[in-house]
Amino acid sequence: MLTCALLAALYFSFRKNPSEAHVMTNPSASTPQKTEAFRLDGRHALVTGGASGIGEATVRELVRAGAFVWIADINVPAAEALASELGSAKAIHLDVTSPDSIAAAAAKLDRLDILVNNAGIGHVGSIETTDIEDFDRLLNVNVRAVFLVSKGFLPLLFQAAEQHEALGSIVNVASVSGLVGIKQRFAYCMSKGAVVSMTRQMAVEYPTKLRVNAVCPGTVQTPFVEAYLEKYHKDCKEETRADLRARQPVGRLGRPEEVASLIRYLASDEAAFTTGSLMVVDGGWTAA
Ligand code: NAI
Repeated sequence: MLTCALLAALYFSFRKNPSEAHVMTNPSASTPQKTEAFRLDGRHALVTGGASGIGEATVRELVRAGAFVWIADINVPAAEALASELGSAKAIHLDVTSPDSIAAAAAKLDRLDILVNNAGIGHVGSIETTDIEDFDRLLNVNVRAVFLVSKGFLPLLFQAAEQHEALGSIVNVASVSGLVGIKQRFAYCMSKGAVVSMTRQMAVEYPTKLRVNAVCPGTVQTPFVEAYLEKYHKDCKEETRADLRARQPVGRLGRPEEVASLIRYLASDEAAFTTGSLMVVDGGWTAA
């Protein structure tokens, strides 16, 4: 019945005006389209760990979207090299584990609309083989730092809502390891699970003042993965790489740009109704 009515409507709209009929039958044209989506013109962003891997790809993508981006990293020469290549970006020294460093960086900014908490480190081990020092290191860099950096930049992010047209936005780079258990990743899973929890808690704490979301990537081809292969699988890198590919149903590692695109979306006005969300980008890993 519904199908007949739909076909009749399409038939008569085609008779009335063939070009309108085209619009009706083209789902992507059913709502007015902007010339370019996910623009961030005039917005100011800061990406921690922005000098490498997913952070670097995110810096590039946000600049491409029209934003000005602070590349916040402990690797200042790499951040400066990237900034000079891009133009609408500036390097800033920021050690995410240091309250003093965060305060000094925040004092240099007069506007912030988008904070990407990306800096992070990995660790391989079960609960039995994880030392207290390693556990604390992961807690420090991957968890405590997200708390410190978010807290340090919160006043500026709240101002974005008051002084500019859109709410401030935090995008945390979590991981599938915050959603499912992964063998030999005890401390890493713990740390990314905490990032997931902080994302949800902050989203419900400030629903009208800030948007807070997280991306949960599967294994992505970055220096982080190369360092892991070098450190733990020096003699069997290619076999291990093949295993990493095989656990993701699409059969390959992710590309940093594929995570960066999702971060750009979450930072954009198109995601205005999205807060407290965990966006998985993992080649099907957690669906399998
Ligand atoms: P990466 O090792 O390529 O880059 C990390 C960046 O963070 C580097 O530029 C480094 O200098 C910086 N950094 C490290 N400690 C810092 C500190 N204390 N303060 C400021 N900057 C610091 O890493 P990748 O792969 O791009 O990872 C980025 C984020 O994505 C991390 O949080 C990681 O846990 C997460 N992730 C990575 C995945 C992967 O397969 N590569 C998968 C899922 C999540």
